[in-house]
Amino acid sequence: MRTQVAIIGSGPSGLLLGQLLATIGVETIILERSSREHVLGRVRAGVLEQGTVDLLGEAGAADRLHAQGLLHAGISLAFDGRLHRIDMTALTGGKHVTVYGQTEVTLDLMQKREAAGLTTVFETSNVALHDFDGAAPFVTYAKDGATHRIDCDFIAGCDGYHGVSRRSAPEGALKTFERQYPFGWLGVLAEVPPADHELVYANHQRGFALCSMRSPQRSRYYVQVPADERVEAWSDERFWDELRRRLPPQTAAAVTTGPSFEKSIAPLRSFVAEPMRFGWLFLVGDAAHIVPPTGAKGLNLAASDVRYLFAGLREFYRDKSEAGLDAYSAKALARVWKAVRFSWWMTSMLHYFPEAGEFGQRIQEAELDYLVHSKAASTALAENYVGLPY
Ligand code: APR
Ligand code: PHB
Repeated sequence: MRTQVAIIGSGPSGLLLGQLLATIGVETIILERSSREHVLGRVRAGVLEQGTVDLLGEAGAADRLHAQGLLHAGISLAFDGRLHRIDMTALTGGKHVTVYGQTEVTLDLMQKREAAGLTTVFETSNVALHDFDGAAPFVTYAKDGATHRIDCDFIAGCDGYHGVSRRSAPEGALKTFERQYPFGWLGVLAEVPPADHELVYANHQRGFALCSMRSPQRSRYYVQVPADERVEAWSDERFWDELRRRLPPQTAAAVTTGPSFEKSIAPLRSFVAEPMRFGWLFLVGDAAHIVPPTGAKGLNLAASDVRYLFAGLREFYRDKSEAGLDAYSAKALARVWKAVRFSWWMTSMLHYFPEAGEFGQRIQEAELDYLVHSKAASTALAENYVGLPY
């Protein structure tokens, strides 16, 4: 079998790249380890930068997003028992973010791919990448007891943090940077109306809390928990009580409780792998970097990597130029590191760090107080949150 771009992974990165390449007639095959149902069962963040929305539109997969996505002009920071709204639209000359679940983004892209009759092979195993630093890259994988080979021009490693692509980089060619945080996020989904019309990020001495949403009827909440916490230790009742203890009184009073239909704990880490290119293999999205969800950058960074790689591949196939491909890693990493910094800063400012002591607590309080009373500081938060220019 042969294709032009072999894509490893059917998450947002792989699907978005596949759809954009389809718009210019470039053939792709996606190899996915999990089942279609498993991919669609993942619950992830749900805040899209305008650039991500525009890319999904360019891929022809934004109809439901425009119909159901919630346009948000601001967020609120909660501390010292009060809410402080950051009017991001006013501070950024009119920019917004769109609240729309990543699960929905993945479904929209997957349905678009299936409608176009493009190939995704689910439940593959033993995916291996070959000769991507030579003249004839190819991928092998096992399926239904047989081993298959796909010859290609390029390999897009869109297979996430635990994928095979980053691990296939030549020995010693990869430099990684990592920061583990001493806590995780316990998240729930419940079919109850959100506590506020926008997102609320709460700093509290009991720990961080976030009030988010998926629709006017469906809420997404998180509380900071120790890194080794077990989800079985958290009944719905315990979760709702702890969440409300971390919110200002008027916000806590606005929380509608109800049975959760999803409850899970996610670890928090910052991770970057450099470079993001090895010959004809390109790392994209979570395969190359991970951010703590505090800045809502994971999906948006995947989209910006895809944008840069798509531009390079379009230039190659249309103009026979490798300039865009040669520039991919440096360009993508420049934006990745700014988002990694922002996500680290939001995490450091909003979470409870026991080892920081009273000095660290006072520094956080001073940072938050300065932030909400300084137009310059609020503007810096706003322009990073809505998304820096590509
Ligand atoms: N072979 C084939 N597929 C694989 C392999 C493999 N060896 N390893 C992983 N995969 C698949 C996973 O099953 C998953 O469907 O690759 C896909 C990677 O998708 P994501 O992990 O979602 O990564 P990405 O597409 O870059 O999207 C980044 O997803 O995890 C969130 O917070 C993250 O919002 C960000 C977004
Ligand atoms: C979510 O809705 O899941 C969400 C929103 C904002 C974040 C993280 C997660 O920063």
